[in-house]
Amino acid sequence: MTTPISEALLFDIMYTCRAMRRLRPDPIPEELLLQLVDAALHGPSGSNAQNWRFLIVRDGEQKRKMQALWRRTWSFYQNTLAKAELRPNEKPEDRLKGASIGTYMVEHIHETPALICVCVAKDDALAKVLASPATLREAVRSFGVGGAIRLAVGGARMRGLVDGSTAYPAVQNLLLAARALGLGAVLTTPQFFVPGEFEAVLGIPSTVTLAAVIPVGYPLGKFGPVNRPDPRRVVSWDRYSS
Ligand SMILES: Cc1cc2nc3c(=O)[nH]c(=O)nc-3n(C[C@H](O)[C@H](O)[C@H](O)COP(=O)(O)O)c2cc1C
Repeated sequence: MTTPISEALLFDIMYTCRAMRRLRPDPIPEELLLQLVDAALHGPSGSNAQNWRFLIVRDGEQKRKMQALWRRTWSFYQNTLAKAELRPNEKPEDRLKGASIGTYMVEHIHETPALICVCVAKDDALAKVLASPATLREAVRSFGVGGAIRLAVGGARMRGLVDGSTAYPAVQNLLLAARALGLGAVLTTPQFFVPGEFEAVLGIPSTVTLAAVIPVGYPLGKFGPVNRPDPRRVVSWDRYSS
Protein backbone atom coordinates (compact mmCIF):
# COMPACT_ATOMS: atom_id res chain seq x y z
CA MET A 1 0.00 0.00 0.00
CA THR A 2 1.36 3.43 -0.82
CA THR A 3 1.78 5.91 2.01
CA PRO A 4 -0.98 8.57 1.98
CA ILE A 5 0.60 11.76 0.71
CA SER A 6 -0.16 13.68 3.92
CA GLU A 7 2.01 11.18 5.79
CA ALA A 8 4.70 10.89 3.18
CA LEU A 9 8.17 11.85 4.26
CA LEU A 10 10.20 14.52 2.54
CA PHE A 11 12.37 11.88 0.93
CA ASP A 12 9.36 10.06 -0.56
CA ILE A 13 8.27 13.33 -2.14
CA MET A 14 11.76 14.26 -3.33
CA TYR A 15 12.50 10.84 -4.83
CA THR A 16 9.21 10.74 -6.75
CA CYS A 17 9.19 14.37 -7.90
CA ARG A 18 9.56 13.67 -11.60
CA ALA A 19 9.41 16.32 -14.31
CA MET A 20 5.71 16.06 -15.20
CA ARG A 21 5.00 17.23 -18.74
CA ARG A 22 1.64 15.55 -19.42
CA LEU A 23 -0.97 17.53 -17.52
CA ARG A 24 -4.75 17.64 -17.41
CA PRO A 25 -6.47 20.86 -18.50
CA ASP A 26 -8.64 20.97 -15.34
CA PRO A 27 -8.26 24.30 -13.52
CA ILE A 28 -6.32 24.48 -10.27
CA PRO A 29 -7.93 26.33 -7.35
CA GLU A 30 -6.27 29.69 -6.76
CA GLU A 31 -5.60 28.72 -3.13
CA LEU A 32 -3.43 25.80 -4.27
CA LEU A 33 -1.48 28.03 -6.67
CA LEU A 34 -0.88 30.48 -3.84
CA GLN A 35 0.21 27.59 -1.62
CA LEU A 36 2.85 26.68 -4.22
CA VAL A 37 4.12 30.25 -4.24
CA ASP A 38 4.10 30.27 -0.44
CA ALA A 39 6.35 27.18 -0.44
CA ALA A 40 8.66 28.90 -2.94
CA LEU A 41 8.84 31.96 -0.69
CA HIS A 42 10.18 29.77 2.11
CA GLY A 43 13.38 29.10 0.16
CA PRO A 44 16.65 30.94 0.73
CA SER A 45 17.67 34.07 -1.20
CA GLY A 46 21.00 35.89 -1.57
CA SER A 47 21.45 38.43 1.27
CA ASN A 48 17.92 37.40 2.28
CA ALA A 49 16.67 39.94 -0.27
CA GLN A 50 13.55 37.81 -0.99
CA ASN A 51 13.34 39.59 -4.31
CA TRP A 52 11.29 36.92 -6.07
CA ARG A 53 8.29 37.81 -8.21
CA PHE A 54 5.75 35.27 -9.44
CA LEU A 55 3.61 35.72 -12.48
CA ILE A 56 0.91 33.10 -12.93
CA VAL A 57 -0.43 32.85 -16.46
CA ARG A 58 -3.92 31.42 -16.84
CA ASP A 59 -5.23 33.57 -19.68
CA GLY A 60 -5.70 31.62 -22.92
CA GLU A 61 -4.40 34.36 -25.21
CA GLN A 62 -1.24 34.82 -23.14
CA LYS A 63 -0.67 31.05 -23.17
CA ARG A 64 -1.06 30.95 -26.96
CA LYS A 65 1.49 33.75 -27.37
CA MET A 66 3.92 31.89 -25.13
CA GLN A 67 3.26 28.66 -27.02
CA ALA A 68 4.14 30.33 -30.34
CA LEU A 69 7.54 31.34 -28.91
CA TRP A 70 7.94 27.96 -27.22
CA ARG A 71 7.47 26.09 -30.51
CA ARG A 72 10.38 28.04 -32.02
CA THR A 73 12.66 27.40 -29.03
CA TRP A 74 11.71 23.72 -28.88
CA SER A 75 12.41 23.26 -32.58
CA PHE A 76 15.79 24.99 -32.14
CA TYR A 77 16.57 22.80 -29.12
CA GLN A 78 15.61 19.62 -31.00
CA ASN A 79 17.85 20.55 -33.94
CA THR A 80 20.87 21.52 -31.81
CA LEU A 81 21.27 20.63 -28.12
CA ALA A 82 19.17 17.48 -28.39
CA LYS A 83 21.62 16.20 -31.04
CA ALA A 84 24.56 16.19 -28.59
CA GLU A 85 26.26 12.80 -28.17
CA LEU A 86 24.58 10.47 -25.72
CA ARG A 87 25.96 10.94 -22.22
CA PRO A 88 27.34 7.98 -20.27
CA ASN A 89 24.37 5.88 -19.10
CA GLU A 90 21.94 7.73 -21.39
CA LYS A 91 19.88 5.37 -23.53
CA PRO A 92 18.84 6.32 -27.11
CA GLU A 93 15.26 5.28 -26.35
CA ASP A 94 15.15 7.69 -23.39
CA ARG A 95 16.34 10.52 -25.66
CA LEU A 96 13.52 9.69 -28.11
CA LYS A 97 10.97 9.47 -25.33
CA GLY A 98 12.15 12.85 -23.99
CA ALA A 99 11.72 14.40 -27.43
CA SER A 100 8.20 13.09 -27.83
CA ILE A 101 7.06 14.08 -24.34
CA GLY A 102 8.66 17.52 -24.78
CA THR A 103 6.71 17.97 -28.01
CA TYR A 104 3.54 16.89 -26.21
CA MET A 105 4.11 19.51 -23.53
CA VAL A 106 4.69 22.33 -26.01
CA GLU A 107 1.65 21.34 -28.09
CA HIS A 108 -0.54 21.38 -24.96
CA ILE A 109 0.76 24.60 -23.38
CA HIS A 110 -2.45 26.43 -24.31
CA GLU A 111 -4.43 23.84 -22.28
CA THR A 112 -2.14 23.85 -19.27
CA PRO A 113 -4.11 25.34 -16.36
CA ALA A 114 -1.28 27.51 -15.01
CA LEU A 115 2.19 28.59 -16.09
CA ILE A 116 4.06 29.89 -13.07
CA CYS A 117 6.83 32.27 -14.10
CA VAL A 118 9.47 32.67 -11.42
CA CYS A 119 11.29 35.99 -11.60
CA VAL A 120 14.01 37.75 -9.66
CA ALA A 121 13.77 41.53 -9.35
CA LYS A 122 16.91 43.65 -9.26
CA ASP A 123 17.89 44.24 -5.65
CA ASP A 124 18.28 48.04 -5.77
CA ALA A 125 19.82 48.31 -2.30
CA LEU A 126 22.54 45.79 -3.20
CA ALA A 127 23.12 47.31 -6.66
CA LYS A 128 23.63 50.73 -5.07
CA VAL A 129 26.20 49.53 -2.55
CA LEU A 130 28.04 47.44 -5.18
CA ALA A 131 28.41 50.46 -7.48
CA SER A 132 29.74 52.74 -4.73
CA PRO A 133 33.40 53.93 -4.59
CA ALA A 134 33.57 52.65 -0.99
CA THR A 135 32.97 49.09 -2.26
CA LEU A 136 35.77 49.47 -4.82
CA ARG A 137 38.16 50.72 -2.12
CA GLU A 138 37.18 47.81 0.11
CA ALA A 139 37.73 45.35 -2.76
CA VAL A 140 41.29 46.67 -3.29
CA ARG A 141 41.96 46.50 0.45
CA SER A 142 40.59 42.95 0.76
CA PHE A 143 41.77 41.34 -2.49
CA GLY A 144 44.49 43.63 -3.92
CA VAL A 145 44.29 45.59 -7.21
CA GLY A 146 44.36 42.41 -9.36
CA GLY A 147 41.69 40.80 -7.21
CA ALA A 148 39.50 43.91 -7.39
CA ILE A 149 39.77 43.92 -11.21
CA ARG A 150 38.98 40.19 -11.36
CA LEU A 151 36.00 40.79 -9.09
CA ALA A 152 34.73 43.67 -11.26
CA VAL A 153 35.16 41.69 -14.51
CA GLY A 154 33.92 38.40 -13.07
CA GLY A 155 31.12 40.18 -11.22
CA ALA A 156 29.42 41.17 -14.47
CA ARG A 157 29.57 37.56 -15.65
CA MET A 158 28.25 36.35 -12.30
CA ARG A 159 25.06 38.41 -12.46
CA GLY A 160 23.04 35.67 -14.19
CA LEU A 161 24.35 33.12 -11.73
CA VAL A 162 23.41 35.32 -8.80
CA ASP A 163 19.82 35.71 -10.06
CA GLY A 164 19.66 31.96 -10.72
CA SER A 165 20.96 31.09 -7.29
CA THR A 166 18.11 33.06 -5.74
CA ALA A 167 15.49 31.72 -8.17
CA TYR A 168 16.14 27.98 -8.26
CA PRO A 169 15.92 27.08 -4.56
CA ALA A 170 12.45 28.72 -4.65
CA VAL A 171 11.66 26.78 -7.82
CA GLN A 172 12.64 23.49 -6.19
CA ASN A 173 10.48 24.24 -3.14
CA LEU A 174 7.60 24.94 -5.50
CA LEU A 175 8.15 21.66 -7.39
CA LEU A 176 8.26 19.67 -4.14
CA ALA A 177 5.13 21.40 -2.86
CA ALA A 178 3.34 20.62 -6.13
CA ARG A 179 4.34 16.96 -5.78
CA ALA A 180 3.11 16.90 -2.17
CA LEU A 181 -0.25 18.34 -3.26
CA GLY A 182 -0.59 15.80 -6.10
CA LEU A 183 0.06 18.39 -8.81
CA GLY A 184 2.41 17.77 -11.72
CA ALA A 185 4.97 20.44 -12.61
CA VAL A 186 8.20 20.86 -14.54
CA LEU A 187 10.97 23.44 -14.49
CA THR A 188 11.38 24.85 -17.99
CA THR A 189 13.58 27.58 -19.45
CA PRO A 190 12.52 28.28 -23.05
CA GLN A 191 13.16 32.00 -22.45
CA PHE A 192 16.93 31.34 -22.50
CA PHE A 193 16.79 30.87 -26.28
CA VAL A 194 14.89 34.02 -27.18
CA PRO A 195 16.12 36.68 -24.76
CA GLY A 196 13.53 39.37 -24.16
CA GLU A 197 10.71 37.72 -26.13
CA PHE A 198 8.87 35.89 -23.35
CA GLU A 199 9.52 38.93 -21.18
CA ALA A 200 7.86 41.18 -23.78
CA VAL A 201 4.74 38.97 -23.91
CA LEU A 202 4.58 38.89 -20.11
CA GLY A 203 5.32 42.59 -19.57
CA ILE A 204 8.41 41.83 -17.49
CA PRO A 205 10.65 44.93 -17.18
CA SER A 206 14.40 44.84 -17.89
CA THR A 207 15.17 45.09 -14.16
CA VAL A 208 13.54 41.70 -13.59
CA THR A 209 15.02 38.33 -14.64
CA LEU A 210 12.67 35.61 -15.83
CA ALA A 211 14.34 32.50 -14.39
CA ALA A 212 11.78 29.73 -14.95
CA VAL A 213 8.43 28.94 -16.49
CA ILE A 214 6.69 26.12 -14.63
CA PRO A 215 3.67 24.46 -16.25
CA VAL A 216 1.46 23.10 -13.47
CA GLY A 217 -1.57 20.83 -13.62
CA TYR A 218 -3.07 17.61 -12.35
CA PRO A 219 -0.93 14.88 -13.88
CA LEU A 220 -1.92 12.46 -16.62
CA GLY A 221 1.03 10.18 -15.88
CA LYS A 222 2.36 8.71 -12.65
CA PHE A 223 4.79 10.28 -10.23
CA GLY A 224 8.33 8.95 -9.75
CA PRO A 225 10.63 7.30 -9.07
CA VAL A 226 13.33 9.56 -10.50
CA ASN A 227 16.45 7.83 -11.81
CA ARG A 228 19.71 9.10 -10.43
CA PRO A 229 23.19 7.59 -9.96
CA ASP A 230 24.66 6.24 -6.76
CA PRO A 231 26.14 9.24 -4.88
CA ARG A 232 29.53 7.50 -4.70
CA ARG A 233 29.87 7.98 -8.46
CA VAL A 234 29.79 11.77 -8.22
CA VAL A 235 31.48 12.49 -4.90
CA SER A 236 35.17 13.18 -4.31
CA TRP A 237 36.56 13.89 -0.90
CA ASP A 238 38.82 16.82 0.07
CA ARG A 239 40.16 17.44 -3.48
CA TYR A 240 38.26 17.36 -6.75
CA SER A 241 38.72 14.29 -8.92
CA SER A 242 36.62 13.37 -11.95
C1 LIG B 1 18.16 24.60 -15.49
C2 LIG B 1 17.10 23.65 -15.99
C3 LIG B 1 16.43 23.92 -17.15
C4 LIG B 1 15.44 23.07 -17.64
N1 LIG B 1 14.76 23.41 -18.77
C5 LIG B 1 13.79 22.58 -19.22
C6 LIG B 1 13.03 22.94 -20.37
O1 LIG B 1 13.21 24.02 -20.95
N2 LIG B 1 12.06 22.08 -20.80
C7 LIG B 1 11.81 20.91 -20.13
O2 LIG B 1 10.92 20.17 -20.57
N3 LIG B 1 12.51 20.53 -19.04
C8 LIG B 1 13.48 21.34 -18.56
N4 LIG B 1 14.18 21.02 -17.43
C9 LIG B 1 13.82 19.79 -16.70
C10 LIG B 1 14.82 18.67 -16.93
O3 LIG B 1 14.74 18.24 -18.26
C11 LIG B 1 14.49 17.55 -15.94
O4 LIG B 1 14.79 18.02 -14.66
C12 LIG B 1 15.29 16.31 -16.21
O5 LIG B 1 14.93 15.76 -17.43
C13 LIG B 1 15.11 15.27 -15.12
O6 LIG B 1 13.79 14.84 -15.10
P1 LIG B 1 13.31 13.84 -13.92
O7 LIG B 1 13.46 14.60 -12.66
O8 LIG B 1 11.89 13.49 -14.26
O9 LIG B 1 14.22 12.65 -13.94
C14 LIG B 1 15.14 21.87 -16.93
C15 LIG B 1 15.82 21.59 -15.73
C16 LIG B 1 16.76 22.47 -15.26
C17 LIG B 1 17.46 22.17 -13.94
